[in-house]
Amino acid sequence: MKTVAIVLAGGEGSRMGGGQPKQFTLLGEKPILAHALSRFEQADCVDGLLLVSHPTWIETARHLAIREGYRKLMAIIPGGPTRQASSRAGLEFLSRHEVERVLIHDSARPLVSPEVIQEVTRRLSEAEVVTAAVPVADTMVRAADGAVRELVEREGLYAVQTPQGFRMSLIREAHERALADGIRDAGDDVQLALRLGRRPLIVDGGRFNIKITFAEDLELARRLLPPAG
Ligand code: CTP
Ligand code: MG
Repeated sequence: MKTVAIVLAGGEGSRMGGGQPKQFTLLGEKPILAHALSRFEQADCVDGLLLVSHPTWIETARHLAIREGYRKLMAIIPGGPTRQASSRAGLEFLSRHEVERVLIHDSARPLVSPEVIQEVTRRLSEAEVVTAAVPVADTMVRAADGAVRELVEREGLYAVQTPQGFRMSLIREAHERALADGIRDAGDDVQLALRLGRRPLIVDGGRFNIKITFAEDLELARRLLPPAG
């Protein structure tokens, strides 16, 4: 298999709250997680899908997958205590398959566009690491104790999103190195690749590719969802 998308759904959604992790919350007609998975299922450049689930919710994830009938789904595997551990679990599983490129995506970004998935994959032919990101629009400052300390020059600042694409050998090495250096809770995979001295290419992920973190984000996602979604 050339390109596999790892969809991360191993979190508990503690900042969102509620009785179940946010990835199972309905967004329009189906759960957030189902939106994320179907965007990769529909992308021609993606050959396989791997779902990393919170261990407690693996049966729920399985039912969702059966209901939606993903043709590309290779497996549903349990994640770990941190996003980094969940991502590593996915890479570990894929090491038993012939995979050249991997796209790692947060299920908490259900509105990722097919064009972005396509472009991140396409640009992996010219770089080992590619990430979706958007230029920061607000004025940026560094603050402490509720007061502004200093302006951070906005020029060149981006907010990093997912999907993040990697050549398989590179991302495996990045995870090995991170663990060897005692790093266990990185916020994403690109920062692990950065530690190897790589310069990830940026693909504009678009401003609708929001991450659902707080309840307000869910409200926003509902408004951004296309009518048929
Ligand atoms: N994630 C994961 N395994 C973990 C933690 C997070 O696969 N141990 C996934 C989440 O399911 C999510 C993505 O990583 O799709 C980004 O994480 P985040 O938005 O922080 O989600 P949660 O960790 O679930 O939320 P919170 O931090 O509020 O608990
Ligand atoms: Mg989290």
